[in-house]
Amino acid sequence: MCGIVGYIGKKNAVDILIDGLKKLEYRGYDSSGIAIVDGTQLIVEKAEGKLQNLQNKIEGLSLYSNMGIGHTRWATHGRPSDANAHPHTSQNGRFAVVHNGIVENYLTLKETYLAGETFTSETDTEVVAHLLEKFYNGNFEQTVVKVLDVLEGAYALVMVCADEPDKIIACRKDSPMVLGVGDEESFVASDVPALLAYTRKCMYIEKGELCVLTKEGIVIKNHDLQPIEKEVHTIEWDAEAAEKDGFEHFMLKEIFEQPEVFKKTLAGRVQQGKVQFDEFTLTKEQISRWKKIYIVACGTAYHAGLVGKQVIEKLVRIPVEVEIASEFRYRDPMLDEDTLVIVISQSGETADTVAALREAKLKGCKVLAITNVVGSAIAREADYVIYIWAGPEISVASTKAYTTMLIAEYLLGVYLAQQKGVGEEAALTAILDGLQQLPDLAAQMLTEDYLAQIQQAVASYRDVNDIFFIGRGLDWSIALEGSLKLKEISYIHAEAYAAGELKHGTLALVTEKTPVVAICVQESTYDKTASNIKEVKAREARVLAIVNEGDNQTQKFVDSVLAIPKVHNFIAPVLAVIPLQLISYYTAKIRGCNIDQPRNLAKSVTVE
Ligand code: G6P
Repeated sequence: MCGIVGYIGKKNAVDILIDGLKKLEYRGYDSSGIAIVDGTQLIVEKAEGKLQNLQNKIEGLSLYSNMGIGHTRWATHGRPSDANAHPHTSQNGRFAVVHNGIVENYLTLKETYLAGETFTSETDTEVVAHLLEKFYNGNFEQTVVKVLDVLEGAYALVMVCADEPDKIIACRKDSPMVLGVGDEESFVASDVPALLAYTRKCMYIEKGELCVLTKEGIVIKNHDLQPIEKEVHTIEWDAEAAEKDGFEHFMLKEIFEQPEVFKKTLAGRVQQGKVQFDEFTLTKEQISRWKKIYIVACGTAYHAGLVGKQVIEKLVRIPVEVEIASEFRYRDPMLDEDTLVIVISQSGETADTVAALREAKLKGCKVLAITNVVGSAIAREADYVIYIWAGPEISVASTKAYTTMLIAEYLLGVYLAQQKGVGEEAALTAILDGLQQLPDLAAQMLTEDYLAQIQQAVASYRDVNDIFFIGRGLDWSIALEGSLKLKEISYIHAEAYAAGELKHGTLALVTEKTPVVAICVQESTYDKTASNIKEVKAREARVLAIVNEGDNQTQKFVDSVLAIPKVHNFIAPVLAVIPLQLISYYTAKIRGCNIDQPRNLAKSVTVE
């Protein structure tokens, strides 16, 4: 939700800012802009729409500076437009600001400090630039501290002052920000992919800290402007992981990366038939204390949670509730020390999930996080962390993060069962053996032939308005994810239904114009799902079924089938969701949609 980047050093900042914004475009893509200081002159260029519009605008302007800041926006306050694009400037044009987050008290700040001033945008951010001018006392750092003292809300802010062009100042509260330590150059960005081409050395900062970037290095200071020591971390992700690598879209590339990232999620975590996590150990006593578990997440991560509930309840026999993070915190959930809260978040920075985590901690719960991003707010604040090790996921529609979240949940389920001493060892071992097969089985699926079958199966989806996904149990959980994927990127209205529930109302909507994708992988419910498929067939719906390899029955009563390799049935969702990802991908493609950057959406949602 908005990407910000800043550079100061010896190179042309303009190139580095544009390159960094390209890597962050997944965070927002309705407008973009940069500000540089050339000599003592502040130059700002912005453009509505994709980053390419900004690139077209600045091409031929010969902009050059060794420092600058940039922004790619996902609108919250004010529609996407040139005027609302960041950077925003002070009235005197000496300060420029880029911001990710929300200044909640911006109207009060306008009335209290900035009455009578002229604002050129509808944004909350512009008040920050005006306040910098208002409070400026000839010392940029002191001025920023004064401004921060009156701001309420969430922010990652990067600021420049044309009168002090030897520095960039950055700070954050509840919005992500990472600092890149270079050789005679310094970087700041919302996320690691913007830094990877330049440095692997990074620092994470906390609320209330002020980062002063110069070409000599980065000094982090506290509220009294006293320097504080910070650990320098090494980024493990490689630069290629954030590039398209010959694939037409990041989404397809990320679907294809699944076999490899499955190996990373599993690596070292199964030793002699036992699950172990480097990150933490839980004893039988600790686990036995938990009488209830909540899984809290948003979007695709929430759908992963639905699978997690079934995994934990079956293996560990602790009741689990799954909640959407934005609902959880406002309904006064019954939490205490005997409750474990599991938060799931690819980015580790989704505002509602972060807020839910804090609510849980306030109530005395232990929080276990499943996340992809080392150093993210969720990773830092949780008591226990399981990294999914999916590498950077750029496509807004999540694929490899979802499947690796599922693998992490299976590992966690087995781990809790083993540590607690519940369940049959052989049954748990069979699950672990199945998990180890997933990388190879996923690789076997991703063949040219399979892709061709899927394209053929979805050819008729180009002009449909509605699609239903049905399944039971674990098949229903992935039906929900399949339907979300399709909505997100193809803009077709899609609904997922528990197959047995259709006849209680929704069947009224099923006609020859509403194709149905039926997931019939779970053996225990196969016969029942088959009956439900026949109900929709009787209403003339065209049915595409996801089946297990070797299933010779289903094809007799549906229109087409896509098979998944045979694997332990309990972990089959990890494979069965792959054709659903590809169904969405190819449907969006034949409809000419912007697959990696669907309209109105952003990869990371840092507003509530
Ligand atoms: C956004 C993304 C989704 C994602 C959700 C939760 O809506 O577009 O793909 O599932 O946020 O994100 P998280 O980073 O918390 O998993």
